[in-house]
Amino acid sequence: MGASIIGIGSYLPEKVLSNADLEKMVDTSDEWIVTRTGIRERRICPEDMASSDLGVEAAKRAITDAAISSNEIDMIVCATITADMVFPSTACIIQNKLGLNDIPCFDISAACSGFIYGLEIARSFIVAGKCEKILVVAAECMSRVTDYTDRATCVLLGDGAAAAIIAKTDDNVGIIDSYLGASGLYGNLLYVPAGGSKMPATHETVEKRLHYMKMEGSSLFRIAVNAMAESVKKILERNNLTADRISLIIPHQANIRIIQGVAKLTDIPMEKVFVNIEKYGNMSAASVGVALDEAVKSGKIHKGDLICMVSFGAGLTWAANLIIWSKDG
Ligand code: UT7
Repeated sequence: MGASIIGIGSYLPEKVLSNADLEKMVDTSDEWIVTRTGIRERRICPEDMASSDLGVEAAKRAITDAAISSNEIDMIVCATITADMVFPSTACIIQNKLGLNDIPCFDISAACSGFIYGLEIARSFIVAGKCEKILVVAAECMSRVTDYTDRATCVLLGDGAAAAIIAKTDDNVGIIDSYLGASGLYGNLLYVPAGGSKMPATHETVEKRLHYMKMEGSSLFRIAVNAMAESVKKILERNNLTADRISLIIPHQANIRIIQGVAKLTDIPMEKVFVNIEKYGNMSAASVGVALDEAVKSGKIHKGDLICMVSFGAGLTWAANLIIWSKDG
């Protein structure tokens, strides 16, 4: 028994924050942002919406794409580091907004690797015979943890959501393998200091802007390239596959130079690498999901293709999976 993606959807808020807008907010330039990151614009969630709202819209599109009734879903996994609240889980909020009840729902915090972690969790429950159809949502409002006075981070991030319906399949297709990794040793390279049990919110934490993301960009850059390239190599090797068998690689969209570095180290030509970073920036867990949806909808993925998704994020975490695409169209 296997598990495959039978429906995929994404949702991007309408409001665009361009490099020209950021030039008015911090000491930066379109030229610096484009050459150092590849990003031209990103989407920003409206004030009256939260991650669950973006996730619900993506989920509705995935349910329609799968041509199932939402009542057939027997678990919801939500990958997010920008949960609506500390608790309850954003997955429970999404369940309620979809009008569902009495199915297990939980969040996972694996940052940018969250969608791939979520797909593997769904696959495992399905292969174990515990579930038949699982909704995996990756929903992020990164703008809510972004310091728009810090030019080193604010140019990178955007908001969005993606969702997939994973279902039981009998054939040897779908998600054929996943490689998940993490190292807490490097947790201090990318984190939000305050707002958790270690440093609860106080006037001082707010004044010191400690509820915003802190990042050591250049150290992360080096680790990201190596961790993603190694993840691709390892998952190919243990499946006795070579890089030339991959039809399309969908990497996390953090920086075009990271993506190019991964392509080079894995011997995968850039024509086989899906890139949409220029439109959305880094949407954490949502990035690879949105990219997969766009790749499918733009005709870049066909039934039978071998797809590799790979990501890297706070934790640090990294993850890759191999998918034999089994859906028509
Ligand atoms: O989702 C996973 C988590 N995040 C990542 O994977 C991010 C990984 N890191 C990166 O993408 C890159 O390190 C950045 C894009 C964050 C930075 O690029 P970089 O080429 O590593 O630049 P840098 O940090 O070495 O900074 C070079 C210069 C510095 O100025 P000085 O010290 O050389 O005078 C920075 O102050 O660029 C300056 N700088 C900027 N200048 C204009 C940093 N940010 C900006 C900016 N606009 N927005």
